Amino acid sequence: MAATLIKGAEVAAQIREELKQEVADLKAKHNIVPGLVTILVGEDPGSVSYVTAKQKTAHELGFYSVQDSQPPTISEADLLALIDKYNKDPKLHGILVQLPLPKSIDTNKVLYAIDPNKDVDAFHPVNVGRILIGQYAFLPCTPAGCQELIVRATGDPKGKELVVVGRSNIVGKPMVAIMIQKLPGANCTVTCVHTGTPKDKMIEHCRRADILVVAAGVPKYVQADWVKEGAVVIDVGVNRIGMTESGKAKLAGDVDFDTVKEKASFITPVPGGVGPMTITMLMKNTVMAAKLAAG
Ligand code: GUN
Repeated sequence: MAATLIKGAEVAAQIREELKQEVADLKAKHNIVPGLVTILVGEDPGSVSYVTAKQKTAHELGFYSVQDSQPPTISEADLLALIDKYNKDPKLHGILVQLPLPKSIDTNKVLYAIDPNKDVDAFHPVNVGRILIGQYAFLPCTPAGCQELIVRATGDPKGKELVVVGRSNIVGKPMVAIMIQKLPGANCTVTCVHTGTPKDKMIEHCRRADILVVAAGVPKYVQADWVKEGAVVIDVGVNRIGMTESGKAKLAGDVDFDTVKEKASFITPVPGGVGPMTITMLMKNTVMAAKLAAG
């Protein structure tokens, strides 16, 4: 039987409606408007379109939003001074520096300069540590989006075998940290397989998964015979595999969707699965940062 599609855009729209209510409550009860600044260095077209989408969503939710575009020649010192200014601005609760930064700038130095209480990407080591000990305010947007999709589409995953394919700092590792917590929406038995896992072992682990989260960065990597009948499959991959006839980029996930959908109970499509959740989770983090500021 073919799997049910987990439609990221629908779940994201539902969460945005909930956030609108929270924004209205913050305004009514504390006279606080969530504030988000996005800092873009240079004019990389992909980064421009991401930042534009983030600003548009912030605006739609009624945030105070600032777009700060800087030339690619900005010095590291000037960028750090800018972050210091925004760290001190009480109207701004979230600071996002769009990545990648030019090679002349030390990315870690910049990310670590952001006040952890305004770090709505949750990339700062303080926030990474808070996630590991289960005492976090923010979760990184992509794995947080995966968790929301799992919980809202398929129910509480408590006690399930969850296998993560990939160990990046942005997706794989935080996904493990989130899903092992003794917290609602998590409490799974978690295994992480990665480039150091022999292929036969990788397949063996994947076949045990009740929930399979794939962030391998390889198009159509996970095959149907790696997947248990009835598993929930979350595909984080976004790979350009050519052009459509109308000239748009043709995308594929890290899962061989056409065959895997015949075995899974639920599956995210690419595009339209995890992707639409990411910006919404950034907005959720910004609302949380504003709530923390409200005390
Ligand atoms: N560039 C691509 N994805 C991201 C993200 O999630 N956060 C930031 N800051 N930059 C990105």
